[in-house]
Amino acid sequence: MRVLLTGGAGFIGYHAAQALLARGHEINALDNLNSYYDPALKKARIGQLVEHRGFRFTECDIADVAALKAATAGARYDIVLHLAAQAGVRHGLIDPASYTRSNLVAQQNILEFARHDAGLMQTIYASSSSVYGNDSAAPFSEDARADKPISYYGATKRAGELLAHSYAELFGLKLTGLRFFTVYGPWGRPDMAYWLFTDAILHDKPIPVFGGGMLRRDFTYIDEIVAALVRMVETPFAIEKGAPHRLYNLGNSHPEDVMALIRCIEQATGKPARIEDADGPAGDVRETYADITRAKRDFGFSPAVPLAEGIARFVAWFRQYRGL
Ligand SMILES: NC(=O)c1ccc[n+]([C@@H]2O[C@H](COP(=O)([O-])OP(=O)(O)OC[C@H]3O[C@@H](n4cnc5c(N)ncnc54)[C@H](O)[C@@H]3O)[C@@H](O)[C@H]2O)c1
Repeated sequence: MRVLLTGGAGFIGYHAAQALLARGHEINALDNLNSYYDPALKKARIGQLVEHRGFRFTECDIADVAALKAATAGARYDIVLHLAAQAGVRHGLIDPASYTRSNLVAQQNILEFARHDAGLMQTIYASSSSVYGNDSAAPFSEDARADKPISYYGATKRAGELLAHSYAELFGLKLTGLRFFTVYGPWGRPDMAYWLFTDAILHDKPIPVFGGGMLRRDFTYIDEIVAALVRMVETPFAIEKGAPHRLYNLGNSHPEDVMALIRCIEQATGKPARIEDADGPAGDVRETYADITRAKRDFGFSPAVPLAEGIARFVAWFRQYRGL
């Protein structure tokens, strides 16, 4: 398959590209390499990918229609895998405009691109467990209304799903939205708790822990997500009735609290954490917990990597990457 991958320098995009290239797919990856977190990490990921034949990278802001057109001109694609976004809940309190631009304007640009590419088989895009807010019954089902997000990030992700749905209704576009649940692993994201805690523990620095460490997250190891992505890319799009728009939860379906995460990092680093109680910022939900019945039924999605093992793999990578 010829895959147009947005967010190719990002955490999930990088891993998806590695797996798809290994299976002989061709990739044109786009990313604006923005400085939300250290662009050196994004460049290092791209540095690994350019080793492969079949991989092409173009620095491009996909919220800019002209730039997107220029970056995609003259090529044909079978699949769009749209993972670029302004991620992270907390940054939404500081710079909401970056979410509007990268999660809504860019989403619409990708939908327009897909609408006008007659040869395209399907478009797969990233959404988030943040759409569920605090009001949905756990485990979260894709059928929940999800109309009370408590973060601006969650609101833009839910809005992105609704934009997608309208394109499926209006133009028959084949679209799949994936609600990822706290994805972690090697080459991960420096703004996420598992990275921040590991960094602090290895440097004997205190860890600010919100809500007494009782916030629960459905931590999902990156390889589980990538395996599902590959299966979706390689499986013809099917839907029984209605607009061709599908939503899937991709989570571990086994939430654990933040203290359990810290214990796993202590074990993997061999060092004790210095925990400091702190007040959590607005926007963090109490719990995320995926009902994965649908992804299991359609793609055999069945996550198996325990948190302790996934964190051990992350810590091993982190030490090597940082020379610690
Ligand atoms: N990692 C998680 O736990 C998680 C959870 C839920 C949802 N998601 C979603 O999955 C997707 C991938 O997340 P990730 O963890 O790899 O994040 P990431 O930040 O590592 O990757 C996103 C990439 O998109 C790029 N980007 C942002 N705006 C862009 C723009 N306007 N034009 C071009 N490139 C742009 C960034 O530079 C970055 O490299 C995102 O849509 C994110 O919202 C991730």
